[in-house]
Amino acid sequence: MAYILPSRVLLGADFLLESIGGLQDKQKRQAWREKIALCFIIIILCGIVGFLTVGFQKVLCPDTQKYVGRFSPMGSTPGVLGVQGWQMNITKYPAIPGHNITEILQSPGQDITTLFQRKANQYPSCNGLAFRAAAEEPCPTTSSCPLPELNASTLQTLGFVNTSLIVGYDWDQVAALSNYFVLDGAVLNMNSYMALHPNPIPSDNLDAAIRTILQKTPGQSGRDGTRLFYYRTDIRKAVPCLVERYYAGNIDKITPGCVVSQLVLYAGLIVVLSL
Ligand SMILES: *[C@@H]1O[C@H](CO)[C@@H](O)[C@H](O)[C@H]1NC(C)=O
Ligand SMILES: *[C@@H]1O[C@H](CO)[C@@H](O)[C@H](O)[C@H]1NC(C)=O
Ligand SMILES: *[C@@H]1O[C@H](CO)[C@@H](O)[C@H](O)[C@H]1NC(C)=O
Ligand SMILES: *[C@@H]1O[C@H](CO)[C@@H](O)[C@H](O)[C@H]1NC(C)=O
Repeated sequence: MAYILPSRVLLGADFLLESIGGLQDKQKRQAWREKIALCFIIIILCGIVGFLTVGFQKVLCPDTQKYVGRFSPMGSTPGVLGVQGWQMNITKYPAIPGHNITEILQSPGQDITTLFQRKANQYPSCNGLAFRAAAEEPCPTTSSCPLPELNASTLQTLGFVNTSLIVGYDWDQVAALSNYFVLDGAVLNMNSYMALHPNPIPSDNLDAAIRTILQKTPGQSGRDGTRLFYYRTDIRKAVPCLVERYYAGNIDKITPGCVVSQLVLYAGLIVVLSL
């Protein structure tokens, strides 16, 4: 065991043991040397395990964990709707041309972001992307977006009170909603996009990926686009943009990446304890 350490360190240790520790006996010195070597190895292993644990946590389980406890499960609270993923208390019943808010509130928590006037340039993450889902104007006609632009005064006029909770979905709810899917734990509402483009757009890879996940993935398996979207570089670049532009809430159940990183955490704990 002692031979693993560089000889100079050992010589130094020898010297220290002899002069300070007062261990004249060669056998005793040998035993001490082995203990020190063992401690070194344990410290290095602990460092590696710690690094792996923290690193895996960062890579596999981003952001989502930060929000745990800040969710309000979709459908659990009456009289609320989602705007850009935030749960709003509806204190008035404003008239929305073409829509009936009483009927909308029958499924509380649902996302109504798309009713607000929006502009393509209000999503900085979409800058420079040519895909239609990123570049085109979200509101080509006023009738598709009957509410004024989203800002604090608009919300106040409408009587929407921000509860500062994020609308939380479980996998079954995402699967049951049409044109919703999950990217990196974020729940995206693609209804406005699919209404603008009922048919596939030729040679738009992002469009093809969105359609694949919405139409070819069976709902029961959860409709998670993360793996598909991270597979190709050009589409991967569009992920922050999609999340910014179509965000409707978050998965409030622990994501598969978090499960893996927790497994690593427990494995690390076992290694440390056994040492
Ligand atoms: C909205 O729907 C509710 C329930 O379906 C109905 O009672 C109400 O009259 C409708 N409001 C308008 C303005 O159409
Ligand atoms: C909020 O939006 C409304 C409607 O478009 C607009 O009249 C108002 O100036 C905006 N307020 C701010 C602070 O941007
Ligand atoms: C939302 O409304 C409910 C019931 O009306 C109330 O209990 C709650 O405090 C409100 N939340 C906020 C943040 O206004
Ligand atoms: C709701 O409140 C949170 C923080 O409390 C804020 O970050 C968010 O922008 C608000 N949402 C809207 C749509 O105003």
